[in-house]
Amino acid sequence: MVSIGETVTILAIESSCDETAAAVVRNGREVLSNVISSQIALHTVYGGVVPEIASRKHIEKINQVMEEALQNAGMQLSDMDAIAVTYGPGLVGPLLVGVSAAKAVSFASGIPLIGVHHIEGHISANYIENKELEPPFVCLVVSGGHSHLVVVKDYGEYEILGRTRDDAAGEAFDKVARAIGLGYPGGPKIDKVAKEGNPEAVSFPRAKVGDSDYDFSFSGLKSAVLNYLNSCEMKGIQICQADVAASFQKAVVDVLVEHSMHAVLSCGMKKFAIAGGVASNSALRRALEKECEKRGIAFYHPSPVLCTDNAAMIGAAAYYEYRKGVRHGYDLNAVPNLKLGQDMKSC
Ligand code: KG4
Ligand code: ZN
Repeated sequence: MVSIGETVTILAIESSCDETAAAVVRNGREVLSNVISSQIALHTVYGGVVPEIASRKHIEKINQVMEEALQNAGMQLSDMDAIAVTYGPGLVGPLLVGVSAAKAVSFASGIPLIGVHHIEGHISANYIENKELEPPFVCLVVSGGHSHLVVVKDYGEYEILGRTRDDAAGEAFDKVARAIGLGYPGGPKIDKVAKEGNPEAVSFPRAKVGDSDYDFSFSGLKSAVLNYLNSCEMKGIQICQADVAASFQKAVVDVLVEHSMHAVLSCGMKKFAIAGGVASNSALRRALEKECEKRGIAFYHPSPVLCTDNAAMIGAAAYYEYRKGVRHGYDLNAVPNLKLGQDMKSC
């Protein structure tokens, strides 16, 4: 255990998808450096992340990114109390690069190793800019690979209220963006174009999952958009990209907001946070801000740079694991489908 007042400085590494990232974080809340080498331009030509290419690029970049993180923080490796790394969920090749690098640095330096859950990282991004935020709270995690409604019971203690049954919210953004000719990555592009469109122009379905108040389903909405595009093409009608983007975005936002508010109220929570790449969506943030304010709920969200993949959030999560005494051995492996917490049917 760490005694109160002791300073804990962590070098954190994240490479689960298409961002090679390293950061130095002090006491879980103070970011001393945050280096992100994005591969977006590399994958744009393929319309999505190509795992093999991502792995190779991570190998090229990982050492440089770690060195830069230490340099920007004005620190040496020997100043670190732990080396933290995302070990799942994510793409196995990309994860392996980060895990191998972290193990090598830890072994060579004798500095303890801590494996971190990627989603726990996303949730913990909220601690960085909201110094007063403490569990318990409800968190909506919406990224390219995940859509979860989580009760953060304590640091590192999670109960899953709901999850997507099919596509993740970010995946739906990316697929619809491609279908309407906006390209990759879809989320930020839809967010921008939707500002010029009418969210009521096209009526898209708000999916209900019969036996669950909290689960999501976005594949039906994606199909509805594709059907709409096909029928317009068959009738020779020119689509308005901005209207389709705005109407699709509104359908996603409505469902996310409704489920989130239901969860917060049912659990009797007064605090609500969002996390993950889609949490930087401007319409979602606006809608949640309004609905939380109406209900007297404190609303927390990271800055956009801490919503999408980064290593600062891994350093934040690792601090609380470190304090609990969590240390990993050199048998730590990449776990592409790593689970988070327990399932919970209701509050
Ligand atoms: O958290 P993240 O960087 O990676 C994963 O862990 O998946 O999330 C990436 C996802 C992508 O699907 C991207 O399109 C989406 O987040 N995204 C957005 C926005 N910015 C990123 N979706 C909607 N609006 C945005 N502004
Ligand atoms: Zn992520």
